[in-house]
Amino acid sequence: MIQHKIRKAVIPAAGFGTRFLPATKATPKEMLPLVDKPLIQYGVEEAVAAGCTDIIIVTGRGKTTMEDHFDRSPELEAALIARGKTELLKIAYSVTRLARISYVRQPEALGLGHAVLMARELVGNEPFAVILPDDIVNVEGGCLAQMVGAFDETQSTILGTEVVEGDAISLYGCLDCTPHPTNDRLVAVSNLVEKPKPQEAPSQNAIIGRYILTPRIFEMIEQLTPGSGGELQLTDAIKALLQHERVYGFHYAGQRYDAGDKLGFLKATVDLALQHDTVGLAFRAWLKTQTF
Ligand code: G1P
Repeated sequence: MIQHKIRKAVIPAAGFGTRFLPATKATPKEMLPLVDKPLIQYGVEEAVAAGCTDIIIVTGRGKTTMEDHFDRSPELEAALIARGKTELLKIAYSVTRLARISYVRQPEALGLGHAVLMARELVGNEPFAVILPDDIVNVEGGCLAQMVGAFDETQSTILGTEVVEGDAISLYGCLDCTPHPTNDRLVAVSNLVEKPKPQEAPSQNAIIGRYILTPRIFEMIEQLTPGSGGELQLTDAIKALLQHERVYGFHYAGQRYDAGDKLGFLKATVDLALQHDTVGLAFRAWLKTQTF
């Protein structure tokens, strides 16, 4: 059997970000900063840490600042050189060297499945990763790298998963699954339901925004009809994939934040600020002086 490597990661970033209005009226949600880096950069860095060399960002109208962010900025670089700000120059320049980044537009917001389908030509016929940039996973080495390890073992579709409490399952894709005989982080998936009613959820295993998918998923997406919320759901395409291939859930190690939600965004900000190289210690000291 050919051992496939995960070289490409798709990052869907075409949504409106309505939960952050008015901040997201003229700024893409993916450009909101957690401490000093925009959300999307965390996703790109996680993909690179997992061995990806090619990143495909699915964008839409009003999202061009993302492209500028990862591009060279001759005026800024010239100004930093003139002022002798070499450390800042390194920071600005390194962002442009992270990976080969391509952009493809999703002309209409028809759902996550549709967003992934937009990347089909750029992905080609090889397994690839999908990172939803709202989901920030704070762990040394990154969540996707752990999943690539599981892919190397199974050569199958791998879905990042987490056990969530109570009714929260209805916010996620949900897995019906059984434990893997030898790897206690893996579960074998037998069914998937997108955003089930709590009483109808087959388990509390939620899909988080990390996927490794085989290229057959594109055929499955093409045959989709609208699902939950009237959208073309990636979860439904993975369910269809089960007719042809094995699918596994992967219980990753790390702390996840839903940075697409205000409270989750604030928690991620505090956690990352506390660990930050230059402001971490001062921020911790300040937090300790606060009475709540
Ligand atoms: C999407 C997926 C869902 C998944 C979630 C993870 O939903 O459709 O299956 O559980 O991401 O964040 P969204 O949050 O975009 O509604």
